[in-house]
Amino acid sequence: MEARNRACLYFPVLVFFVLIFVSIEANLSAATNSISTGQSLSGNQTIASEDGTFELGFFTPGNSRKFYIGIWYKKLPKQTVIWVANREKFISNTTFSEFKLTQDRNLVLLNQSKTPIWSSNSSSPTSSNRTEAVLLNNGNLVLRDMSNTSVIFWQSFDHPTDTFVPESWIGMNKVTGEYQSLTSWKNSEDPAPGYFSDSIDPGGTSEFFLRWNQSEIYWRSGTWNGEYFTGAPVLPEMRRTTIINVLYIDNEQRRYSTCTLKNNATITRQVLDVSGQIKQWVWLDKNQDWLLFWSEPDAQCDVYSLCGPFGICDSKSIPYCSCLQGFEPASMADWELNDYSSGCVRRSTLQCGKNSSDGFLTLSNMKLPSNSHSLDAQSSDDCSSACLNDCSCTAYAYGNGCFIWKGELLNLQQLYGDGDSTTLFSGFQLLISTIQKVRAEHYLSFLVLLER
Ligand SMILES: *[C@@H]1O[C@H](CO)[C@@H](O)[C@H](O)[C@H]1NC(C)=O
Ligand SMILES: *[C@@H]1O[C@H](CO)[C@@H](O)[C@H](O)[C@H]1NC(C)=O
Ligand SMILES: *[C@@H]1O[C@H](CO)[C@@H](O)[C@H](O)[C@H]1NC(C)=O
Ligand SMILES: *[C@@H]1O[C@H](CO)[C@@H](O)[C@H](O)[C@H]1NC(C)=O
Ligand SMILES: *[C@@H]1O[C@H](CO)[C@@H](O)[C@H](O)[C@H]1NC(C)=O
Ligand SMILES: *[C@@H]1O[C@H](CO)[C@@H](O)[C@H](O)[C@H]1NC(C)=O
Ligand SMILES: *[C@@H]1O[C@H](CO)[C@@H](O)[C@H](O)[C@H]1NC(C)=O
Ligand SMILES: *[C@@H]1O[C@H](CO)[C@@H](O)[C@H](O)[C@H]1NC(C)=O
Ligand SMILES: *[C@@H]1O[C@H](CO)[C@@H](O)[C@H](O)[C@H]1NC(C)=O
Ligand SMILES: *[C@@H]1O[C@H](CO)[C@@H](O)[C@H](O)[C@H]1NC(C)=O
Repeated sequence: MEARNRACLYFPVLVFFVLIFVSIEANLSAATNSISTGQSLSGNQTIASEDGTFELGFFTPGNSRKFYIGIWYKKLPKQTVIWVANREKFISNTTFSEFKLTQDRNLVLLNQSKTPIWSSNSSSPTSSNRTEAVLLNNGNLVLRDMSNTSVIFWQSFDHPTDTFVPESWIGMNKVTGEYQSLTSWKNSEDPAPGYFSDSIDPGGTSEFFLRWNQSEIYWRSGTWNGEYFTGAPVLPEMRRTTIINVLYIDNEQRRYSTCTLKNNATITRQVLDVSGQIKQWVWLDKNQDWLLFWSEPDAQCDVYSLCGPFGICDSKSIPYCSCLQGFEPASMADWELNDYSSGCVRRSTLQCGKNSSDGFLTLSNMKLPSNSHSLDAQSSDDCSSACLNDCSCTAYAYGNGCFIWKGELLNLQQLYGDGDSTTLFSGFQLLISTIQKVRAEHYLSFLVLLER
């Protein structure tokens, strides 16, 4: 696909939609791009960027009845939110709620009983009536001094949600120590922070990490080589199609990555979505929909613990997540929203002290969970009884050695074929060379305790 094609297709369709929107939103011609001191937005009032690309106001994600202050693409027929203010606390009725610029130079969201539930929290020494909140054409909501617009007190690009748009940045502010990271939504109807995040290496390099629960790294961008991030195999493709120029900047104030559009008519965004993948989307007018340009990690099941405790990720099934036999989703409602993070629970609870290895579920060709404990057992039976005799043991594996797991099992993955031999025994990193020999002859079994 070429950028040129998109640009050609862009205009006729866009004109069509502008006409529709003009009739629906008759008051938008009077719409402004700013909120000044003392002013507020309530109900369905919005502000829009000067060029009409972005709009800010209350929205409800999906079918939920919860309201949030957000920024979205005004002209697109599909609700696409790029930023959310009150991620963690919603509003249930917008009529008497207010998104307000206060005397102390802050944007504050007041709920129906006038309780502040979100604030921009910028600490400015003096109050001023000469402050304005402006929604810029690039989607940045900026609190600035009206008499000198380069004096910025706060901006939404410093507090990204799950989306990176051209001219925004993710990285770190060396002066304040603050990170600009992307954090996934909890699910498609709840913008509260989910388990996945994308942030710059706290160690100081130019590398970006995708992490689960702020800890486990499951994808690395590679470091910046002056032209691109070396670990992102997709970049040659992006360079050829030339949608965006990716930049990495390290100066006295900040180290961060940003990007600019090669063609201002292109509409594109990167999102760390509830699947734990970072995805680059491009708006395709022909389809009136977002086209997925690339995603990382490429394989959905490489996202750490996508399916939650006792969930199993299978790249050949749809959906990818299911529960181990004998287990069921901990929250069916969450699973239906593609949020598998709560994982699965046993249908019947384990009783300690019971003594039968019939209670084990045998799974073959599994990527084993990390955090195993290695035991000195001479046979599969010894390994099994070691697990049975330990009330916190939930699984064991016996191959060329005995390994047991305690508590919840995370990151279970079904594997196929021989191409995976290096990942198959990832729980056995230190033993790879011997284990691979074992594998050639017979499966290594991974057994999960079902009953005791
Ligand atoms: C448009 O503005 C008028 C007057 O300001 C107001 O009465 C009307 O409710 C508004 N309509 C919409 C769709 O917001
Ligand atoms: C906005 O709210 C007003 C008052 O509640 C209502 O009359 C109007 O239809 C709404 N406009 C839109 C576009 O929903
Ligand atoms: C919000 O509150 C107003 C006033 O109490 C009420 O008229 C309106 O129906 C409520 N809207 C919703 C969606 O509950
Ligand atoms: C407003 O927020 C406060 C604090 O979170 C809460 O106690 C109160 O019930 C909320 N009011 C409404 C009408 O939701
Ligand atoms: C603002 O500060 C308050 C108090 O320190 C804190 O509870 C709240 O989470 C902060 N809000 C934001 C949006 O950072
Ligand atoms: C700011 O506005 C408030 C309310 O409109 C007014 O009372 C106050 O005098 C103004 N302050 C300045 C410095 O203009
Ligand atoms: C506006 O603010 C910037 C940044 O603080 C400063 O460098 C510049 O001199 C100011 N301009 C005027 C006209 O005061
Ligand atoms: C996520 O990390 C927090 C803080 O380290 C920890 O308390 C919590 O148990 C972790 N969540 C899971 C599901 O492991
Ligand atoms: C694209 O937009 C940016 C920011 O608005 C502007 O600086 C630049 O000149 C534009 N480029 C083209 C080719 O129109
Ligand atoms: C469990 O089985 C082992 C060997 O079969 C036996 O020695 C032990 O007494 C049994 N323990 C219980 C609690 O039944």
